[in-house]
Amino acid sequence: MIERGYMDFSELIQLRQSVRAYQDKPVEGWKIEKIIESVRLAPSASNSQPWQLIIVDDPDTKDKVAHATYSSLISFNKFAPQAPVLAVLTIEKPKLITQIGGRLKDREFPLIDIGIAAAHFCLQAAEVGLGTCMLGWFNEEEIKKILQISSTTRLGLIITLGYAGEDNKLRKKIRKSQEKMCSFNSYKLGRNN
Ligand SMILES: Cc1cc2nc3c(=O)[nH]c(=O)nc-3n(C[C@H](O)[C@H](O)[C@H](O)COP(=O)(O)O)c2cc1C
Repeated sequence: MIERGYMDFSELIQLRQSVRAYQDKPVEGWKIEKIIESVRLAPSASNSQPWQLIIVDDPDTKDKVAHATYSSLISFNKFAPQAPVLAVLTIEKPKLITQIGGRLKDREFPLIDIGIAAAHFCLQAAEVGLGTCMLGWFNEEEIKKILQISSTTRLGLIITLGYAGEDNKLRKKIRKSQEKMCSFNSYKLGRNN
């Protein structure tokens, strides 16, 4: 939460974590607007901006989408219905030049792009005191039906959004050490890779 009117980027990075418990409290419209604007300004290959951001805040629709992120067998997203808002990032066709470049170089630029857009979403949400969790596991066909998305469009990520539940203590999940994930001037696998 912004307390002194600004937050260092490194503080924001520490603050953002996946939130899997939410309060039953609505999210203010201005906060959602701010998040939408941050996604809009995300960089992308050739500035293609190959995504549509769907904010799902109608309770019935949101509930249907949330229930399509888990099943009785795969239940790790069972927390999703608690979130008062869900966001869906679709993967749209990029500009022709990006499509050609991607094919020539065998690169999936739109996937990279929506990852960055999702990071903008989650970091902006954290700055205004909201919790998020990116979901990569969901019933794509079912959600496309609910949101009337054409069968040829792929869904990239779903993001839960809302005020974190009480048990949201800051706990930076274990990350690889800098030595393991970074090297200078030549490629080196970390000691335990
Ligand atoms: C592409 C992607 C897909 C993810 N899918 C899920 C998911 O389906 N369910 C879930 O609970 N978390 C999911 N996560 C969250 C990761 O588990 C989480 O970011 C990671 O464990 C690091 O923890 P942190 O976000 O708290 O720092 C996903 C994250 C990413 C980037």
